[in-house]
Amino acid sequence: MSHADDNAGTRRDFLYYATAGAGVVATGAVVWPLVNQMNPSADVAALSSIFVDISGVSVGTQLTVSFLGKPVFIRRRTPEEIEAARAVPMTDLIDTSAENANKPNAEATDDNRAADETGEWLIMTGVCTHLGCVPLGNGAGDFGGWFCPCHGSHYDTAGRIRKGPAPQNLHIPLVQFVDETTIQLG
Ligand code: FES
Repeated sequence: MSHADDNAGTRRDFLYYATAGAGVVATGAVVWPLVNQMNPSADVAALSSIFVDISGVSVGTQLTVSFLGKPVFIRRRTPEEIEAARAVPMTDLIDTSAENANKPNAEATDDNRAADETGEWLIMTGVCTHLGCVPLGNGAGDFGGWFCPCHGSHYDTAGRIRKGPAPQNLHIPLVQFVDETTIQLG
């Protein structure tokens, strides 16, 4: 398959997932089906890497796509969100690991979790690390980031767990920028 074919398929997927993701975020208290995570269908398993066009994501908004059977949050953060995340001392964190597949064993600083140097892009698996619900975004919770309504876990603007039963920060999948407006997951 050529790169162009690959991208064309991705755009179709992108539109579908963006629509589906909005529904997930709106309802919030949805448990992402574990059976889907453990037994991905053959076509999902084949998509070990996808391209996502992020050109339509404006500052202060989030796009949700589906990748390997899980939602992935693509947040374009405001300067205030970045500033708030960078002001948090390590000693305030419940989980001091970045939980970032791109930076194994790194500390949970905002720099180590953001997808780019400016910190504008934060890309995370949208599955609560407690029991797998999909957290609400767009400034939800006591720390202005994400809130999981299932049992009350609060994540900050870097997706780090700050209060509630979740044991870990929201995980960050393998991701890289292909160009300024395209990311590759996986
Ligand atoms: S699943 Fe999120 S707090 Fe329990």
